[in-house]
Amino acid sequence: MKNTEIKNAENTKLAGDRIIELRNNNEQYFIVNGRKKTYHILTYGCQMNEHDSEKIGGMLTSIGYEETDDDKNADLVIFNTCLIRENAELKVFGKLGEVKGLKRNKPDMLVAVCGCMMQKEEMRQKLLKSFSFVDIVFGTNTIQELPGLIYEVEVNKKKGIDVVENSELIYENMPKMRKFKYKALVNITYGCNNFCTYCVVPYVRGREKSREPGEIINEVKLLAEDGCKEITLLGQNVNSYGVNLESKITFAELLCELNKIDGIERIRFMTSHPKDLTEDLVMAIKACSKVCNHVHLPVQAGSNDVLKRMNRKYTKEHYLGLVDKLKKEIPDVAITTDIIVGFPGETEEDFLKTVDIVKKVQYDSAFTFLYSVREGTKAAEMDDQVPDDIKHDRFNRLLDVLYPIVLERNSQCIGKVYPVLVESVSKTGNSYLTGRTEHFRLVHFAGSENLIGQIVNVKITNVKTFHMEGEII
Ligand code: SAH
Ligand code: SF4
Ligand code: F3S
Repeated sequence: MKNTEIKNAENTKLAGDRIIELRNNNEQYFIVNGRKKTYHILTYGCQMNEHDSEKIGGMLTSIGYEETDDDKNADLVIFNTCLIRENAELKVFGKLGEVKGLKRNKPDMLVAVCGCMMQKEEMRQKLLKSFSFVDIVFGTNTIQELPGLIYEVEVNKKKGIDVVENSELIYENMPKMRKFKYKALVNITYGCNNFCTYCVVPYVRGREKSREPGEIINEVKLLAEDGCKEITLLGQNVNSYGVNLESKITFAELLCELNKIDGIERIRFMTSHPKDLTEDLVMAIKACSKVCNHVHLPVQAGSNDVLKRMNRKYTKEHYLGLVDKLKKEIPDVAITTDIIVGFPGETEEDFLKTVDIVKKVQYDSAFTFLYSVREGTKAAEMDDQVPDDIKHDRFNRLLDVLYPIVLERNSQCIGKVYPVLVESVSKTGNSYLTGRTEHFRLVHFAGSENLIGQIVNVKITNVKTFHMEGEII
């Protein structure tokens, strides 16, 4: 069954001819002022949002804007928002307060707010009421309309607002201002159908849609021709890739197709849901030489009661079975995870089961979160919300167990040589570079800047919890 429709990004509702008019206006601006108009994007949240910001940058570049890394000088400031946890929301509102002062001194500056927060009606109302200076509001399904919204503000002197709550359209061929040349994010699915009871993503990103394999393969081929070495395939649950497509293809098969593309040296993916991590996928990771031996497999909790109330649809035993399978087939596999502490009704006994699974799996690293109540989700309505002090205490005790395990896993790398994709100059010092191994371990080592974007062999000499140190050989 096909439930999506593909549209070319040029056929947008508001944009069309107005893109040309805006482009002409911006060219005039350049002639008169000797500089292009500038934009600055503040991106909150996950890699989906990071990649959406690349599309927003692409749209703006196509109408004659250029990026600036300073919001104070920007002609257009864009907030690409997240609401996965309360603190993500608070950060956005805090920064909007700052920008309010900026706008007072610079009334011509445009302020736009987009992203997951704007997909919720209550959030839009709150924003428009408390921050009435905001000129443009759009959502995750209407990025392609941004030029039309700018037109609305600049030419029609109105607020530009366009949010579509649940869209079945996929816009292909959007221009992108990619942040890195040597690595790229590639969407494979949008949205989520899982409705984990704590999570807002299904409400703000809509139902799951898969991109056609041909579109993904073309995009990756173009990236490879452009010098890209590493791709990260993005989806809330990559394992369910393809289920709503007419062309029968599984995620494992997609990986094998992408593995054939010359020039691409590493393939990563995020996130796999344990409920549908198939044998095929384990075998594809094993068989495809470019697919990194790293699986991010969010466990969330170790207690079957809690997992049930989270609607995760697997048990601790099933999860541990998957880990065994991965370790057996791919002996050097790195397994990382996400854990939520303090889900409603979590008892001390439940929490100790989370600690136990961490010990059993021996994670290479983990993102740990305090449960955050999200309005509109089922868990928000559950009784027995865990008091903050207990949540914090459990969180700290979890880290006390987790960090020594991560350090121990890193220690096992000492003396070994790993190919590292050099990503940037290290923050620790000028002649130091930073990169990642296929297992997603961060490595600092001495080297010159011209190695950025290349894969070099690094021997690990010392390790910490959050990074390793080494030397190029
Ligand atoms: N689709 C991915 C994760 C998306 S959100 C998956 O299913 O694994 C990233 C992580 O944020 C989740 O794995 C979860 O650990 C955390 N998270 C989501 N909602 C949360 C909430 N209400 N409180 C705390 N953490 C949350
Ligand atoms: Fe949220 Fe669950 Fe979907 Fe992940 S799988 S995005 S945690 S609802
Ligand atoms: Fe990502 Fe936050 Fe949206 S985690 S999908 S940006 S709510």
